[in-house]
Amino acid sequence: MNLELKIIEVKKLLQSAHENYVSIVFASSFSAEDMVLTDLIGRHYPGIRIFTLDTGRLPEETHSLIKKVEDNYHIHIQLYYPDTSAVEKYIAQNGLNGFYDSVDARNTCCYIRKVEPLKRALDGQNAWITGLRRDQATTRKNLTEVGFDSENGLQKINPLLDWGMPDVWAYLSEFNVPYNALYDKGYASIGCAPCTRAIVAGEDVRSGRWWWENPETKECGLHIQSSHIKN
Ligand code: ADX
Ligand code: SF4
Repeated sequence: MNLELKIIEVKKLLQSAHENYVSIVFASSFSAEDMVLTDLIGRHYPGIRIFTLDTGRLPEETHSLIKKVEDNYHIHIQLYYPDTSAVEKYIAQNGLNGFYDSVDARNTCCYIRKVEPLKRALDGQNAWITGLRRDQATTRKNLTEVGFDSENGLQKINPLLDWGMPDVWAYLSEFNVPYNALYDKGYASIGCAPCTRAIVAGEDVRSGRWWWENPETKECGLHIQSSHIKN
């Protein structure tokens, strides 16, 4: 399917989701994928609220992009922060960068800084939209475009599931959409600063995320289910 058709399909899905769900939100990490959806939602579906989980460890480049999006699209991005006392307790027990020491310590940090705030962000919503793509990771092969997210108790919509990275960059270029400056410094997938690094040509796109772990464990808990039941 060419890009124009893919865009039409995504718009159809966003339109029907917008009509069908009273409260619907888009979880944006301001990745290149999420900028495709931010652009479409910002221009065509202002009723879909956009939020981001500000873990407290995001790179400055991501904060700059959030500000740019708010200014360019005249929209407000809702920011969710981790619970202060949970962060303080984690750091007292594990150290400031304890997530490098074990998968458990890493998962706990991701839980405190992302998963618990996500639950608050999704509370009372009927559906949420993500920028997940199937070819991002082995853990994402079995996802479906629309399905019930039983972990969070609402519908989950993944409009870009079958987009490849070339589609994403072609879209951003065609519509002159701003993107995170770290992509121009060799980053291919962007999360928290201490857990993300640049990659070299030929490396897997997610190899710069939690690079000290095996591919099977590289999920932060936001997308805990690997499969959904198709509607
Ligand atoms: S992660 O699980 O490895 O961190 P990834 O960066 O691939 O996730 O992003 C997948 C999708 O999860 C994004 O398209 C976005 O919908 C959501 N997401 C990830 N991080 C955040 C964040 N900090 N704030 C809001 N949504 C996020
Ligand atoms: Fe913590 Fe790293 Fe997870 Fe960010 S990505 S929440 S810093 S472990």
